[in-house]
Amino acid sequence: MVEGELHGVIALDGPSGTGKSTVARRLATLLGAGYLDTGAMYRTVTLAALRAGVDPSDHDAVARIAEHVALSITTDPVHQEVLLGEESVGIEIRGQAVTLAVSAVSAVPRVRELLKVRQQELIADACASYGGIVVEGRDIGTVIAPNAALKVFLTASSDARARRRTTQDTAEGRESSLDATRQDVDRRDRLDTSRAASPLQPAGDAVWLDTTNLDIQGVLDRILELVDERELRGVAAGPGRW
Ligand code: DC
Repeated sequence: MVEGELHGVIALDGPSGTGKSTVARRLATLLGAGYLDTGAMYRTVTLAALRAGVDPSDHDAVARIAEHVALSITTDPVHQEVLLGEESVGIEIRGQAVTLAVSAVSAVPRVRELLKVRQQELIADACASYGGIVVEGRDIGTVIAPNAALKVFLTASSDARARRRTTQDTAEGRESSLDATRQDVDRRDRLDTSRAASPLQPAGDAVWLDTTNLDIQGVLDRILELVDERELRGVAAGPGRW
């Protein structure tokens, strides 16, 4: 572990199945930095809404859930923990019920507003304790950390993304078929890209990285090159770096 080697924020945005989570976590571990999975936060609010019997498309009811949700998430890349109250929900939030409802919940402006405040606090805390953090999501480079030292927008063909998601689901014991996953990936992309509140879109100053023909190590190597080009290792963070 090279504690504190990264200084500042790396924003990793892009649709699901681009390898974002695996890359973000490994990158953070390699650089001794914090790691924040913002999708897990939207998923946890979604789980709370579903458990309360709230219709995910009812904006007011979903907003009330988000206002009172007892959500906590750690920024340790090796032992990530997501809690709803005292309960660890890291596995349940990846299940089908949450995956089907999360785009509707994350389209609610009040939910985004509330989670934005939490995410910015977590980022500031991690920068203070680790020196830097890798943050993954859909609006990190555009809304959450617009001054991030490095922004990477990951893409991949829809086929490659569906294949990766199916492999991941199967490996983690969830029932999965390529066709159903492709439909789900396409549906969520459509919703995430077309929503009015901070839609999935690349920041103007993001570096695009097409991962269709790259393995995880290939993606990591390219991002580490960018980290070194920008001299983000071992330098003190200047004011306004994120
Ligand atoms: O990264 P993920 O698949 O776990 O994210 C789940 C959903 O949360 C995704 O469909 C869109 C939403 N999301 C978002 O709107 N903004 C973020 N920063 C992260 C995720």
